[in-house]
Amino acid sequence: MSWGRILNYWLAIVCIVFLTQCSEARTETPTDQVNMGASASLEAQQNNQTLLKQGEHLVLIAGCHDCHTPKKMTDKGPVNDMSRALSGHPANMPPPDVDRAEMEKKGLAVTQTLTSWVGPWGISYSSNLTSDKTGIGNWTEKNFFLAIREGKHKGMENGRMLLPPMPWEMIANMTDEELRAVFAYLKSTKPINNVVPAAQPPVSAGPDK
Ligand code: HEC
Repeated sequence: MSWGRILNYWLAIVCIVFLTQCSEARTETPTDQVNMGASASLEAQQNNQTLLKQGEHLVLIAGCHDCHTPKKMTDKGPVNDMSRALSGHPANMPPPDVDRAEMEKKGLAVTQTLTSWVGPWGISYSSNLTSDKTGIGNWTEKNFFLAIREGKHKGMENGRMLLPPMPWEMIANMTDEELRAVFAYLKSTKPINNVVPAAQPPVSAGPDK
């Protein structure tokens, strides 16, 4: 074989390799971008799912349902009515019928279904925490942090202090990340329209000193 022919073969091979790579590069670039875009959004979706799962888990173990989910009566007594999960004290349900002045004087707290509470502070009703606009639907994460970390009603800077027995001082110990997860989960809940009655002040001046 002459040097000229060898050179020709080499040139041909180099050209083929070059052309294949060029065409591959041309066809691969857009596909790659699409794939990367898809996997990035898939990753974002998975991260969001993890956040919501963590939030749901924290809400379960921190006992939010105990007070914020209405109860239904069963053979075994009252249980959480999960069809109305986290929707707060039902609008049409009266608070416990007790002698409020006497309760306040004795410093007693009385509850029925754990969603309404008569005590020395007056009457408090567990809030609607669902994603409905009558719940936390219009809240920002900042509102939620103000409510839990500083005990501010509706998460407003100038809001009144939250009443007992909302254990915000304890829940405030959650990390920022945990609170974010809880809030993201609450925002993802089934919206339930329920306007919880407004809290009432005590009828008397408070317990005897
Ligand atoms: C022992 C009962 C109880 C538990 C447990 C409880 N809450 Fe509450 N929560 C209440 C009551 C009662 C109110 C209403 C207080 C008021 O009107 O000042 C309230 C109010 C709130 C508010 C303020 C709503 C508003 O409109 O200002 C938020 C937010 C909240 N709770 C979130 C939670 C979360 C999240 C959990 C679980 C991690 C939880 N609560 C556990 C009783 C409870």
